[in-house]
Amino acid sequence: MSIALLLNSGRAEDWKLEINRHLPEIKVEIFPEIENYTEVEFALCWKPAAGYYTHFPNLKVIQSGGAGIDHLFPKAIPSHIHICRIVDPMLKSDMFEHVLTCLMHSMKNLSAYAAAKDKRDWQPLEYKSIGQTHVTVLGLGEIGGYLAERLAQLGFNVNGWSNSPKKMAGVTSFTGVDGLRLAVEHTDFIVNVLPLTDATRGILNRDLFNLCPKGAVLLNVGRGEHLVEEDLLEAIAEGQIAGAYLDVFHQEPLPRDHPFWHCSSICITPHVASRTNISSSVTQVVDNYRRMILGQPLLNEVSLEKGY
Ligand code: GLV
Repeated sequence: MSIALLLNSGRAEDWKLEINRHLPEIKVEIFPEIENYTEVEFALCWKPAAGYYTHFPNLKVIQSGGAGIDHLFPKAIPSHIHICRIVDPMLKSDMFEHVLTCLMHSMKNLSAYAAAKDKRDWQPLEYKSIGQTHVTVLGLGEIGGYLAERLAQLGFNVNGWSNSPKKMAGVTSFTGVDGLRLAVEHTDFIVNVLPLTDATRGILNRDLFNLCPKGAVLLNVGRGEHLVEEDLLEAIAEGQIAGAYLDVFHQEPLPRDHPFWHCSSICITPHVASRTNISSSVTQVVDNYRRMILGQPLLNEVSLEKGY
């Protein structure tokens, strides 16, 4: 029995070392250097190529190397294979820090002052305080729920929108189409952390932007495919959306000729809002391998029906 690593993240060697530290007796191989494909029952994957699971006739578990599983082609995976994801406190707190940084950066006009500095322009602008600021978090799962609660603790006015109603301290929960309208109608910021499913693909679109007050700001730290890119550019050009902080894109790396690079109201980060921390996540991967061997229930298994 062996573990295969199909990691399109440049971190396969680090994962191999960490897994072997916990499971020294187990063969851990980096695809495509696999000695015997029939031995592989467990695969740790990040953005593998289409059809990757067909190489391994005895595959039982596909473990995502991150919080999301959309990159695993989940609909195509045979139903006897279990899919698990990473749930890690570091992923949540890193996401919170990233989102808080973007919110404060925008509320305190730091982009405008950076541009003003280039012109030696001393121009005080109105700024927002936390208590005056309304944030709508789309997606109240492990990461979104944590984020919403932490922002509420800091004093932000927080709405959350999710598939099912949630009870969270300081967070007003909304669901459904009407709920989405109510959740964003007074918001200053939309923060997207939804999982990518058929129901959420393209949800950051013109209709949603028009439901927000003029001048709202978008933070997309979910997936690139949540956003209709042309709709954002149009909404920014018209001033309906004042700007955006984008960490994820349809195509990554973002192509060099993409219009987002030229839009001064868009702040781009290269999918770094919250990266899997190998040393804090390896124990659940190893634990899942052991559980698979013992036929025990797996940790953080994903419902293929729901897609998260
Ligand atoms: C990052 O995008 C993840 O899914 O962990």
